[in-house]
Amino acid sequence: MNPKTPSPDATLSSADVRAKHKEFLFPATSNYYEEPIVLAEGKGLRLKDLDGREYLDFFGGILTVSVGHANDEVNAAVKAQIDRLGHVSTLYPTVPIVELAEKLASISPGNLEKCYFTASGTEADETAVMMAQLFTGRSEIVALRHGYSGRSMLAQSLTAHSSWRALPTKIPDIKHALSPYCYRCPLGLTYPSCEVKCARDIEELIRTTTTGQIAGFLAEPIQGVGGFVTPPKEYYQIAVDIIRKYGGVFICDEVQTGFGRTGGKWWGCEQYGVEPEIMTMAKGIANGYPLSATICTPAIADSLQKLTISTFGGNPISCAAGIATIGVIEKRDLRKNSEVQGKRLRDGLERLKQKYPRTIGDVRGMGLMQGVEHVEDETRKNRTPNAKATVRLFEETKKRGLLIGKGGLYGNVLRISPPLTVTAAEVDEAIGKLDESYAAMGA
Ligand SMILES: Cc1ncc(COP(=O)(O)O)c(C=O)c1O
Repeated sequence: MNPKTPSPDATLSSADVRAKHKEFLFPATSNYYEEPIVLAEGKGLRLKDLDGREYLDFFGGILTVSVGHANDEVNAAVKAQIDRLGHVSTLYPTVPIVELAEKLASISPGNLEKCYFTASGTEADETAVMMAQLFTGRSEIVALRHGYSGRSMLAQSLTAHSSWRALPTKIPDIKHALSPYCYRCPLGLTYPSCEVKCARDIEELIRTTTTGQIAGFLAEPIQGVGGFVTPPKEYYQIAVDIIRKYGGVFICDEVQTGFGRTGGKWWGCEQYGVEPEIMTMAKGIANGYPLSATICTPAIADSLQKLTISTFGGNPISCAAGIATIGVIEKRDLRKNSEVQGKRLRDGLERLKQKYPRTIGDVRGMGLMQGVEHVEDETRKNRTPNAKATVRLFEETKKRGLLIGKGGLYGNVLRISPPLTVTAAEVDEAIGKLDESYAAMGA
């Protein structure tokens, strides 16, 4: 166990916070762990809870803290902006909003040049779908099973996880194609002899379930909430060709995969050699400050001719944080670090798979976005999802001071995604803690 040094300025105990959380928040605001951790402070990858216990953060507030907690450069930019100007709304241009838009245009693929800022990934996806519909004059959208788009009515209708849908599909015109989930191939095939039929099936989907006149295809390069489902390398070229053949545009949801997360490149779509017409981003854009953006080609941006406003979109403080975050990623070459440490992390996880071959069925991902799928018994080809093992592992890693995430339709996939500033020593420490945790639970 970690040493206990209570935070000197703690006015509430952890138990008080947990009790108040239960009393005053929606019960659906669920927390990790049987006894949730009340986090109080952080620096880099190190977090402390209210009782002074320390944790190594390998989830980064859901792939959002790109350059480490309380990053000096981001904090300096935020503090300076707070003292200068905190809010004006999108009705007035500001220095931070134009500087960030220009920066995003310069690092985005192809001729993605025009930005619309909002405050969450959900809104960015909403904006993207609206733009695809306005531009094409059509309404049907192809999305993916196991995909996640957020929590508005449209985003829930795009999302293909029953556990995240509080209401039945409210928005018509959304068709869900098969997920490129090789470990659990929806067609029962094996890559590469499958010839990526899951991608080719999109044509059948369009021809049988739509008017044949689609507006677009919205997909994540790696399905994040879906459990880091990583499509085969040919998938997006085949899928996007089909979408364009039927007149649709490609909306790439880079909410989780953006800003160097997948290693070596800025965007997940670049790993697949495809250029979207519309791209959405959030999470890692501003190191935790609320900000999202939809970027598209000038022709698509021109197709929105009505009034539109996002009160908090492009807030100067969040934009200042975004500019500083991207600056740190560039200056410290964190795309490269994501590739190098991502490989080290992957190698360590593959070693754990060898050591615990029953419970660990699959290791997948790119860069610092690595998933581990737990099953009943891979050695006997029993791939029944093992969510219980994931819960047990969570409790064991908590005891050892390591924070990780989980996901997947069945809640049985670890999501491991530390800030891009992670060092080799921190990767080794995390692998060591995971190893001890698997051993302790008798994996
Ligand atoms: C791929 C993807 N798109 C959209 C969203 C929605 O983002 P937000 O929670 O900021 O609304 C998420 C959130 O996890 C996501 O993972």
